[in-house]
Amino acid sequence: MKSTIVLLGPPGSGKGTQGEKLTEEFGYVRLSTGDMLREAVRNGTDLGKKAKEYMDSGALVPNDIIIGLMKEKIAATDGKVLLDGFPRTVEQADALAEQLDVDLALNLDVDDEELMVRLTKRRSCPKCNAVYHLVYNKPAKDGICDKCGSELYHRDDDKEETVSNRLAVYRKNTMPLIDYYSKKGTLVTIKGVGSIDEIYEQVKKAVQ
Ligand code: AP5
Repeated sequence: MKSTIVLLGPPGSGKGTQGEKLTEEFGYVRLSTGDMLREAVRNGTDLGKKAKEYMDSGALVPNDIIIGLMKEKIAATDGKVLLDGFPRTVEQADALAEQLDVDLALNLDVDDEELMVRLTKRRSCPKCNAVYHLVYNKPAKDGICDKCGSELYHRDDDKEETVSNRLAVYRKNTMPLIDYYSKKGTLVTIKGVGSIDEIYEQVKKAVQ
């Protein structure tokens, strides 16, 4: 079983969805930079104030902020860790490599048209970070989180114009990590299209 996993893939490719399932079944500590940053924005912390403007436009939060944040979070784990949304630049990947060895970089490959449909119709839980989709993955009761009963919301950065920008930022800054981890021999790419459970079967094979 792989103990240190990086989830790669464009916005909306299913990193959070698959990461959550792996965490529930195998007990990884899932560290999602997106969830951490959104919580900081909600709580109005210094980190949240710095990050908000970047996130709202679909840009990346500066490397020094993210690297400092993740260094601390990773140090507090026992090593069985699933990184969702980090690293997102080669500079972040180099910083991570100084701290731990990545056993598996799992890349979810989904085309842009499908990503747009997934993100513009995604609904998220502000409390437990569960994600739903208005067509593919509906909550039992409209607008309410199955897991914790909170009211679901539409992320500001899931509006169509911002999604386009996030995809461009992904191609420029994060796609090079596919080559980066391929050269290290730890990359596995999975076609992230199909039902959530079908994809999860392939994800499980890659982590075992
Ligand atoms: P972050 O929250 O990490 O966003 P992201 O990478 O853009 O990823 P998403 O959360 O949008 O998508 P996902 O791949 O997790 O897909 P999901 O499972 O939800 O980052 C947000 C922002 O924070 C960034 O833009 C940046 O500003 C900042 N940031 C974060 N990390 C940073 C870093 N390291 N450096 C700098 N800045 C950083 O699925 C999407 C939808 O599809 C859901 O509705 C789901 O139900 C549905 N779905 C999932 N799987 C399937 C399927 N198989 N079939 C149909 N629908 C599906």
